Amino acid sequence: MAPIVPPFPAARLRRQRSSAGLRALTRETALTADDLIWPLFLRDGAGVSEPVPSMPGVNRLSLDRAVEAAARAAELGIPAICLFPYTDPAKKTAACEEAWNPENLTNRAIRAIKAEVPGIAVMTDVALDPYNLHGHDGIVAGGEIVNDETVAALVRMALAQAEAGADILGPSDMMDGRIGAIRSALEAAGHRNVAILSYAAKYASAFYGPFRDAVGATGALKGDKKTYQMDPANSDEALRCVARDLAEGADMVMVKPGMPYLDICRRVKDAFGAPTFAYQVSGEYAMIRGAAERGWIDGETAIWESLIAFKRAGCDGVLTYFAPEVARRLKAG
Ligand code: PBG
Repeated sequence: MAPIVPPFPAARLRRQRSSAGLRALTRETALTADDLIWPLFLRDGAGVSEPVPSMPGVNRLSLDRAVEAAARAAELGIPAICLFPYTDPAKKTAACEEAWNPENLTNRAIRAIKAEVPGIAVMTDVALDPYNLHGHDGIVAGGEIVNDETVAALVRMALAQAEAGADILGPSDMMDGRIGAIRSALEAAGHRNVAILSYAAKYASAFYGPFRDAVGATGALKGDKKTYQMDPANSDEALRCVARDLAEGADMVMVKPGMPYLDICRRVKDAFGAPTFAYQVSGEYAMIRGAAERGWIDGETAIWESLIAFKRAGCDGVLTYFAPEVARRLKAG
C-alpha cells in the first residue's frame, strides 16, 4: 500500500502529533498486559528470593515464592509465566535424567502453581542445559551434541512437564525433529491441549550471558552453541526453521533474542501469520536496567519503547523480565 501524501502545506505530518489526544487516536499499536509472558527462575528451598547479580531486580525464587509471584502476575493480568530452574550441580548427569524426574524443581513448581493459581498459563523450557555438567542443550557424545538421542530425551522431559500440568511447552534446544516428536508423544499420551511455543528461530547470541548466570550454567558451558543455534548473520534460514516447526505441530513460534532481531520478527509474522513471540532476553534486560540504574537512560520510557517495538514489528507478545513492572504501570494507567 503506497502512502498518499499531498504536497506541503496540505500535508503537515506534524498535525497528527500536535496534541496528546491526536497522538492517542493515531497510535498504530498498543501494549497491554495480555502481551506479556514473565520468565521466572526457580531454586530449591523455602522463603528464598536470591538476587541474580547480572540481572538487577530479578531473583531466583523458591517454590513458595514462585507461587506468590504467579499470584501477583495473575492479579496484574499477565496471562502466562515461564519457568527456568537453577539445578543443584549434584543432580546434573551426562544422560540428564533429572530432566524428566516428575519431582524435579520445574515439575514441582508447575503442580504448586497450577494448584494455587489455576488461572495463569504455565510455560516451561524444554532443553537439557540445566541438567548436565557441560551446559549444552543436548546430550554430548564424542564431543558432539547428538541430535536424535537428544530428541528422545526431550520427549521424556516434555511428557513429564505435560503430566505435571504445564499449559505451554517451550522447546528451546534447536534440535531437528523435536517439535514433531514432542507433538506425537503428547497426542499419544492424551495431552491434546498442551500447546507448543517453539523457540523456532533462536540465535547463538552473546545476549544470553546473564541468563546463564541465573541458571548456574555460566562456568559450566564448554565451547559454544553454534552447531545448533543460528548464525546471527542469517535471515532466510529463520523462515525455514519457522516453516518446519509449524509444519511439525508448533502452535506458536518465537524469535530470540528480541531487539537485535526485529527484522526477523516482521518477516516471520508476514510470511506465516502464526502467533509470533519475541524473547527480550537477559542481556537486553541487563543493558536497559544497567543503564537506567546509572541514570544514563530513562528506564521507564526505554522499557516501554523496547516493548512497543515488538508489537510494531508484528509480534503478538513478548517474553520479558520487565513483565510485572510494566503490567503494574499499565494497570495504574
Ligand atoms: C537454554 C535457554 C537459554 C535461554 C532460554 N533458554 C540460554 C541458552 O540458550 O544458552 C536464554 C534466555 C535469556 O537470555 O534470557 N535452553
